[in-house]
Amino acid sequence: MEDRGISQAVIRRLPRYYRYLGELLEGGVERISSNDLSKRMNVTASQIRQDLNNFGGFGQQGYGYNVKYLYTEIGKILGLEEDHNIIIIGAGNLGQALANYAAFEKRGFILKGIFDVNPRLAGVTIRGVPIRMMDELRSFVANNEVDIAALTIPKDKAEEVADMLVENGVRAIWNFAHIDLNLPDNVIVENVHLSESLMQLSYNISRYNEEHQK
Ligand code: NAI
Repeated sequence: MEDRGISQAVIRRLPRYYRYLGELLEGGVERISSNDLSKRMNVTASQIRQDLNNFGGFGQQGYGYNVKYLYTEIGKILGLEEDHNIIIIGAGNLGQALANYAAFEKRGFILKGIFDVNPRLAGVTIRGVPIRMMDELRSFVANNEVDIAALTIPKDKAEEVADMLVENGVRAIWNFAHIDLNLPDNVIVENVHLSESLMQLSYNISRYNEEHQK
């Protein structure tokens, strides 16, 4: 999927620009050159210029980038100017960890509901949000605007729960269950697999070791 002709590779790099620019803003920095940003981010200045040129003329020769402007524009491209309501399905270790992470809210991801099948969790609250039982999910989704559902349930339950969410109008799934969901094209799925990131790390460790044994 392309966004305004911007490649997915660039889109994947935007959150990191957004984070650095946010830190600069908090530090009171109003403008920054691509060279300075490059040193901070450990990316070449030409990569930064190429990436940010996608959004048309944010940088000015001899002036650099206007941090606030660029931060705001990247935020718009990432769809962060609007809040997103989130529910979490599966209030186990991972679901509770996500629910406890208050910083998502700073980015406009608002936790609206947490669901599970375990009756022992019924009514337990996490940051003021009660864990509800799955039999309430359908009516909850019908009566609340739910933009994103995070799936932190066992993988053998993920497909059926995802189908039910989609049937009830949820259009975006943040999938942590280790399964590739088979959903209609109008449903947006983002898979997050920490183990894949760990395998990447392991690969890089092996590669480093090989290179340094030569
Ligand atoms: P957990 O066992 O602590 O929690 C799972 C929760 O889901 C339990 O509270 C259980 O009652 C609930 N549940 C089971 N069936 C359900 C259903 N049909 N509807 C609603 N809730 C249901 O497990 P943990 O460690 O929190 O992991 C959750 C899932 O996330 C697992 O599939 C695990 O493999 C995956 N996982 C993925 C990671 C990733 O990076 N993608 C990292 C860690 C876990």
